[in-house]
Amino acid sequence: MQIILKNHSLNNLNTLRCRSVAANFIELTDIDLLSEVSDFIEKTNSKFFVLGGGSNLILPEKYDGLVIYNKLSGIDCIEEHSEYVLIKAMAGVIWDEFVAYTINKGWFGLENLSLIPGTVGASPIQNIGAYGAEVADFIEYVEVYDIQTNTVKQINNAGCNFSYRNSIFKLRPNYIVIAVTFRLLKDAILNYKYADLSKCLTDITNLTALDLRNCIIKIRQAKLPDPNQIGNVGSFFHNPILNNAKVNPLKLAYPGMPVYILDDDNSKVSAGWLIDNLGLKGFRQNNLGVYPKQALVLVNYDSSTQTEVLEFARMIQDKVKAKYGISLNIEPIIISKGG
Ligand code: EPU
Repeated sequence: MQIILKNHSLNNLNTLRCRSVAANFIELTDIDLLSEVSDFIEKTNSKFFVLGGGSNLILPEKYDGLVIYNKLSGIDCIEEHSEYVLIKAMAGVIWDEFVAYTINKGWFGLENLSLIPGTVGASPIQNIGAYGAEVADFIEYVEVYDIQTNTVKQINNAGCNFSYRNSIFKLRPNYIVIAVTFRLLKDAILNYKYADLSKCLTDITNLTALDLRNCIIKIRQAKLPDPNQIGNVGSFFHNPILNNAKVNPLKLAYPGMPVYILDDDNSKVSAGWLIDNLGLKGFRQNNLGVYPKQALVLVNYDSSTQTEVLEFARMIQDKVKAKYGISLNIEPIIISKGG
């Protein structure tokens, strides 16, 4: 197929700025191309993965399969009611441009998810979340192309099996997200209770979604590195969810440790704090480091490889395990060499 490019560099298509080359690469600008993509995969027996904004991936030096670069574009209001709208965005739309668009229209829900890097299509996969909100709360359904059966499927919210930074899509590599439909409110229920937000918002009497968005942009810009300036994938580790029997002795040993009680059995512990408390904030080894303003973010100061990134992460995981007995899981998706 002519439209498939060979040995295409991914260096500028992943925000961690890992050195990476794809054996085969296609820019998906039209859904009609997917049947050809499916033929190519079948004929060559290739592995594939879908690339959106590349903001939550750790890419290998050489990927032997096919990279499908999702550039499907367009936003469409498909139903409007007195209380809510159903708004569909194609998978390749830049997430934050979509958030800005909805706020501009006077629709509420996505303001707390402002400035998260990446695309609309990636948002359900890891159920993006920030400042007390998760995208799962606003998704009506997700449309996917099943590359195995060459059919389009619509998966409703319950079928997505959303949980903390997780969904059914992580288990279904044969699904290519083509569009996401959101249910957004016409009347504001603004969510400004998250600690950082209440600190930044001094006057909440006439608070608008745009005020909240601007405040979140300010906090994110102060805490998180801009991927255009310095390679990163946002949070590198999950905040571990632990049994309270394990958390209680840690709380006694470390009274300053932030703990979020989830239910009678489980609590979420802040991975950033665990790393920070080891004195690793700002630590640097060769081209990799722990971001000086937020210890949950690892940064790539130059073009490191996946192997180097994972070795650096392993060193942090080992130190956390040794000090607190907690295993940290890597949050971004690790793409293997393929074949
Ligand atoms: N903390 C430290 N030191 C640090 C970092 C954090 O002590 O270096 C403490 C903070 O003081 C706070 C607690 O840890 O008490 C939590 O920190 P923060 O509110 O900054 O959030 P986080 O748990 O580090 C999560 C998400 C972020 C999201 C923020 C804000 C995960 C894995 N990360 O981070 O999401 O922006 O909350 O809601 O859940 C992402 O997924 O890429 C991401 C950036």
